[in-house]
Amino acid sequence: MDAFELNKIFGALTGALVVFLGVSFVTEGIYHTGGHGGGHGHEKLAYSLEIEEADGHGDQKEVVEEISLAALLSEADVAKGEKVFKKCSACHNVEVGGGNKTGPALYGVMGRDIASMDFGYSAVLADMDGGWGWEEMNGFLTKPKEWADGTKMNFAGLKKSEDRANLMAYLNAQSEAPIALPAE
Ligand code: HEC
Repeated sequence: MDAFELNKIFGALTGALVVFLGVSFVTEGIYHTGGHGGGHGHEKLAYSLEIEEADGHGDQKEVVEEISLAALLSEADVAKGEKVFKKCSACHNVEVGGGNKTGPALYGVMGRDIASMDFGYSAVLADMDGGWGWEEMNGFLTKPKEWADGTKMNFAGLKKSEDRANLMAYLNAQSEAPIALPAE
């Protein structure tokens, strides 16, 4: 075996190692982000891959996933939220004096007591204590039927946290008494 052949073998081995490392890096990333958060694996997977593609390296994805609701809301765009509300307007009025439709009127809903309109609510909402704060609304709008098991609201939910933040900012603006943004 001469030096040239040894070189070829060494080259092939290094190549295989690089491929192997590359693959394990990618799969580790996938399992790491997909593994926790029970049930939301697909959403997270898509999200982190999108980010890896966008900035070329994976180390930032943990940071991106951990953006707090407070931070999202501080950057929320009311005009974009108004567009997101089109998904709600078939069933909800949000203007002053707007009545109930299939769903209860939503003018002033941020900070309002849960299930406090003159509306035939489901038992799950009717029995719930407290008001519509940021966390509550964010939870409900993510997956209504998971957050309020038994709700009559026939809506799958908004997957994107930015959409929810923009929409909540819009809802909060449709009010005589908008509530304060959450602290960081
Ligand atoms: C297909 C009709 C429908 C769509 C679409 C819909 N909702 Fe609803 N919504 C309802 C119904 C019905 C209820 C009453 C739920 C219950 O009693 O369980 C409700 C309840 C609510 C409540 C509780 C209000 C209260 O008085 O406590 C909020 C907040 C809400 N919806 C927001 C939204 C937002 C924001 C969207 C758009 C992202 C949306 N809904 C889309 C039908 C709908």
